[in-house]
Amino acid sequence: MVEEPDANPYVHDPDTSFAPADELSEDEARDQVSDLRVAVEYHDYRYYVENDPVIADRTYDELFERLQRLEDAFDLHDENSPTQRVGGEPLDELETVGHVAPLLSLQSSGDSEEIRAFDRRIRDRVGDVDYSAEPKFDGFSIEVVYEDGAFDRAVTRGDGREGEDVSANVRTIGSVPLHLPAPAPEFLAVRGEVYMPRSGFQALNERRIERGEDPFANPRNAAAGTVRLLDPETVAGRPLEVFFYDVIDTDADLGTQTEAFDLLYDLGFRVNDETTVVDDVDAVIDYRDRLMTERDDLEYEIDGVVAKVVDFDAREELGSTARHPRWAFAYKFPARTGETTVERIVVQVGRTGKLTPVALLDPVDIQGVTISRATLHNAAQVQRLGVREGVTVRLERAGDVIPEVTEVVDGEKRRASGDRTGSDDGRPAAGEGGFTMPDTCPVCDGDVVQEGEHHYCTNASCPAQLRRSLQHFCSRDAMNVKGLGAAAADQLVEAGLIESLADLYDLERDELAALDGWGETAADNLLAELEASKDVPLGTFIYALGIRHVGTERARALAAAFSLDDLMDAGTEALRSVEDVGPEVAAAVASYFDEAENVETVERLLDAGIEPERRERGAELDGLTVVFTGSVPGYTRSELTELLETHGASVTSSVSGETDYLVVGENPGTRKREQAAAEGVETLDPEAFEERILSRL
Ligand code: IVH
Repeated sequence: MVEEPDANPYVHDPDTSFAPADELSEDEARDQVSDLRVAVEYHDYRYYVENDPVIADRTYDELFERLQRLEDAFDLHDENSPTQRVGGEPLDELETVGHVAPLLSLQSSGDSEEIRAFDRRIRDRVGDVDYSAEPKFDGFSIEVVYEDGAFDRAVTRGDGREGEDVSANVRTIGSVPLHLPAPAPEFLAVRGEVYMPRSGFQALNERRIERGEDPFANPRNAAAGTVRLLDPETVAGRPLEVFFYDVIDTDADLGTQTEAFDLLYDLGFRVNDETTVVDDVDAVIDYRDRLMTERDDLEYEIDGVVAKVVDFDAREELGSTARHPRWAFAYKFPARTGETTVERIVVQVGRTGKLTPVALLDPVDIQGVTISRATLHNAAQVQRLGVREGVTVRLERAGDVIPEVTEVVDGEKRRASGDRTGSDDGRPAAGEGGFTMPDTCPVCDGDVVQEGEHHYCTNASCPAQLRRSLQHFCSRDAMNVKGLGAAAADQLVEAGLIESLADLYDLERDELAALDGWGETAADNLLAELEASKDVPLGTFIYALGIRHVGTERARALAAAFSLDDLMDAGTEALRSVEDVGPEVAAAVASYFDEAENVETVERLLDAGIEPERRERGAELDGLTVVFTGSVPGYTRSELTELLETHGASVTSSVSGETDYLVVGENPGTRKREQAAAEGVETLDPEAFEERILSRL
């Protein structure tokens, strides 16, 4: 365990009545920043690694904010400061870097005879050995390098020789040390597994579904996808964790895996507490069988155990092949698979309008869970696998995720009762013989379009999509109808008050007031919000329609290029002349307006009094110069900068006579405010900023 930093005033008894930053000299500020960094890092360690914080969250926040403020005021930024855990600037690409030593993989099998054979080979060569028995984490492996006790880089496994530099992302993970306590080795390269805890994974997927994004298939994909993102701020908002399990290289003297784990632990790395040392292969087998029964209770996914020879001299004697060390073995759990018969293939329509073929199965027990349906993902996957009614398929269940069909085991076994496929409501969805996607939506009969391997219902008023479209339509960046979130959207659709987006503006006071939990005030508020939303820039209106692939930026570009009438008639070719509109986007826009129901929806919305106003793109803030200090709730700094700059403003980093406004957000720096006062620059708090600037867009 990492000791408390000596004589650091902020570790146990933080003096929360700090002197104002402007009363400190440079030197005093520098000293305080250094103490605060040590303290904040220590508290990160207590919280994320030891799970045993020693100060209250509020006190931690005060230390963190104080540090942030001093760094801003005295320009003392450092990429290894714990304040950087909130994520730095976005990257253009991940750079390729070589590994300290090749990152090998492991020999593996789920067969106990195989691990016994491995053990015999070892004993034949070096005699009896002890094994380090460790969970085999099902995550994403990284190498992290420390030089002179400070975080230097984190690299993905890549091809084993070189990987991608993901330092900026890995620094955001609270349990990854940024500095090692003295006496730290001069050089240390460690290996660990980044993973996403189950609970965090589920919450993340729920948020993604809410926003109409595809959920991640499993925690491993979520972790792998997140570590490789280009925006560290997004990464900082995702729940990543790490376990470290290997010292790849160091100048410290290590003789055994036990010493390696002790070193990792002493230096503040997060290590797994299921890890143990056993003295023969039988004990490894027992260990694996025990973890197999406990795996679902763990917050992280494991797919087996790893046995490693403890003694490093023995390891050296055993050596490695080109691909794996001879001294380690992954004894895997049996895959969670089973076999059963496909009774029917139905098509489900998701909230984004995506049509997903689903196999209804003869129920089968897979490791204690009864499975009666499995996703087939898309039509191409059904064809690739050759799935049809009556065939026997192999299923795989990974974690808590919906089971998947992985292969057809017996394509000959056909059910006597026929070969019909249909939708959940019984309508046929198949051609003769194999499965084909229906041309029209099984829920609303709307046209279906294909995009890549996926099929979508194009009717935005499809009941399957309506709630989601409604929520999107009313969201802040769209029509900004406050008070119409997920719950209210569900309620309006369920009560039958809304069958198409356009019904929104026909809602009546009495019917709203009669809804469960509403009343007249809530009804009046919503009607007032709806009324206020009618005056809207064209780009915002186009975005609000929820056309696939049309986010705020593209919607604005379309609004700059076309009037609404022209947009509705534009063919894919005309659409493609707009910057950033490629074939896929053009097809999505054209097919949205090809759907008669959508055209009717738009016309009804216009009849209801919505007046989308066409504005020149990018001209609204021409000539305006803005500086930010502190954070504006709801936005990242880079989002704001981009937003303002695309509308003609310039965002600069220091206040001068040229500055029009200084936006003072939460945890602002002192220096910029002082400069603003000296230069007579007007300051705006987040609300004023919203009213004076954002509302012009
Ligand atoms: S040791 C040379 N220990 O399994 C040995 N690997 O195929 C280096 N893994 O990509 C690996 N848990 O990401 C080791 N306790 C553990 C592990 C582990 C998971 C992963 C690792 C690697 C794969 C091996």
